[in-house]
Amino acid sequence: EAQRTLVLIKPDAVARGLVGTILERYERKSLRIVALELRTIDAALSDAHYAEHLERAFYPDLRDFITSGPLVALVLEGDQAVEAVRGLNGATDGRKAAPGTIRGDWALSNQLNLVHGSDSPESAAREIALWFPSLASGPGGQ
Ligand code: CMP
Repeated sequence: EAQRTLVLIKPDAVARGLVGTILERYERKSLRIVALELRTIDAALSDAHYAEHLERAFYPDLRDFITSGPLVALVLEGDQAVEAVRGLNGATDGRKAAPGTIRGDWALSNQLNLVHGSDSPESAAREIALWFPSLASGPGGQ
């Protein structure tokens, strides 16, 4: 059944010229790009997106990083899209992520970890509504 998920190709990936390479992984998995935008976000959107992390010790650094330059926000759709993207992304910490995953192949950090993928269908609905309000009523975005 079609499901949607929010992906961020973070500022480190944009700065390193990895956008095309990363998008290719998702497209070759047969995930469909439903929305895609290059944007530089402000602290308010960071705080809303990372609401569950606001009190964490690492959050101020994470906010500085995620607002530091352009990122690519996109919505992907496909069967089990949330799980599929998380598998392609690999473990949060690039130092521990398995080879063959985006983070496992190209990241060596807990914070500069190239990509974000929604962690559940519920998170996906919330995040899609936040980043792409015009899509909020689509599959997985209800
Ligand atoms: P992401 O999938 O965007 O969700 C939360 C983000 O917080 C995560 O990727 C990392 O970029 C960041 N993060 C998680 N844990 C840590 C940590 N221990 N130190 C720094 N950043 C972290």
